Amino acid sequence: MTQEELFKKLVAHCKEYGFIFPSSEIYDGLGAVYDYGQNGVELKNNIKRYWWDSMVKLHENIVGIDAAIFMHPKTWEASGHVGAFNDPLIDNKDSKKRYRADVLVEDWLAKQQEKIDKEVEKARKRFGEQFDESQYLATSPRVLEIKAKMDAVHTRFAEALNANNLEELKQIILDCEIVCPISGTRNWTDVRQFNLMFSTQMGSTADGANTIYLRPETAQGIFVNFLNVQKTGRMKLPFGIAQIGKAFRNEIVARQFIFRMREFEQMEMQFFVQPGTEMDWWKQWKETRMAWHRALGFGDENYRFHDHDKLAHYANAATDIEYNFPFGFKEVEGIHSRTDFDLGRHQEYSGKKLQYFDAERGESYVPYVVETSIGVDRMFLQIMSAAYNEEKLENGEERVVLNLPAALAPVKVAVLPLVKKDGMPEVARKIVDELKYDYNVVYDEKDSVGKRYRRQDAVGTPYCVTVDGQTLEDGTVTVRHRDTMQQERVAIADLRRMVDEGCSYAALFKKMKA
Ligand code: GAP
Repeated sequence: MTQEELFKKLVAHCKEYGFIFPSSEIYDGLGAVYDYGQNGVELKNNIKRYWWDSMVKLHENIVGIDAAIFMHPKTWEASGHVGAFNDPLIDNKDSKKRYRADVLVEDWLAKQQEKIDKEVEKARKRFGEQFDESQYLATSPRVLEIKAKMDAVHTRFAEALNANNLEELKQIILDCEIVCPISGTRNWTDVRQFNLMFSTQMGSTADGANTIYLRPETAQGIFVNFLNVQKTGRMKLPFGIAQIGKAFRNEIVARQFIFRMREFEQMEMQFFVQPGTEMDWWKQWKETRMAWHRALGFGDENYRFHDHDKLAHYANAATDIEYNFPFGFKEVEGIHSRTDFDLGRHQEYSGKKLQYFDAERGESYVPYVVETSIGVDRMFLQIMSAAYNEEKLENGEERVVLNLPAALAPVKVAVLPLVKKDGMPEVARKIVDELKYDYNVVYDEKDSVGKRYRRQDAVGTPYCVTVDGQTLEDGTVTVRHRDTMQQERVAIADLRRMVDEGCSYAALFKKMKA
């Protein structure tokens, strides 16, 4: 199965099992907007909890807030979003399809890297055990030729982006002979800037309505509350403010399911530090955030850092944590050193001082900020991509299983009476009642036990508990484990401890430290 086929199956699975539906589907949906179903919302809430607790509970010096989506319009002038929150777009005149010019060049660069990787693999096969990869990379004329071409384009690309040079961006696309994937032609328009913020009107026109924006990032709600939190929480530098909330962007190239949406959710944390210490904190947060991802157990090799060529208007250093999605390594999270740009600008635009009095240094200053910013939906897609597996079983049957970290699974336990009689449903209901205050538990008595297992595998339920004849005699049940499919007899009295241990967030947090 190709990665593309796998991804299609994943999208279909998300719908079939109540994870994600297209928004307003009965009206044929709305582009790049999605709804979360009964299992999706549980998984999403668990992801948010994993993030929130890792920030607010694990750090004494990080607190949370929940700011409004609507903000004073000046916020977005100060933040630079009105002037600079743009995507460079280019149209193919034949297919009439619109693309992000920077993404076309990035894809071209990735293709060159793939060519080098292929050359390396060919050489490895040719030379066998004696193969020395670094020597080959340093000496192969073919590799050196591709590398030189890549480096030259890379330099031009970074310069063009940083200088906002749209003509040069188009020239790079022409020079690299990039074609439209639909029409196959190089008949391109000029590159234009397109602002990504949604706007609406607040108040009636008679009153003089104001144009306001749906926030394109949650971060600004944190910046404008910096002093409120610092003063009321008596926070001392360094300290952080965390927030989870909706953000909106009029994405032009919205594709790959929930990877790029127009309405999405962010989990952002702004960490306020002394000027001059930001690079150390930036490095530290890179490591902490990478450990958070890796603790989920989807394979360290599937994550990597990607440092930015083009820094956003507010940053002096930025990296992405990328995950190896079925469509390649792509950004899941950004870690940005935002300097004093945001607080400085809000100070300037509001006329209010946004400074911290440092008692030790005996002076006031605008703190610097290191930000960690991750999309809930993108993290959801990352987890689903990693967890979705099709397995061939020993008996020849197949199963689709979501190997979700147990703490994140939408349903923790399914309780299944073997038959709908002999008092088994009553005992099963009692088990549900005992666990339901702490866990999302389901009761299922329909179909054969085998079919019920398959249904639970498909939504990633870690434990299936079967009540059978023996239960009525000795108070034990069969617990079937999702990943190994192994079964064991467990006393009903021990079930809670088993679920507590298996589904705890603490176990994930401890892995972060290891
Ligand atoms: N406050 C900084 C900021 O917003 P960003 O790199 O534009 O930075 C941060 O966004 C994260 O938000 C991304 O790494 C991604 O996970 C998520 N994100 C951004 N745009 C998105 C979109 N259109 N759909 C889904 N998630 C998105």
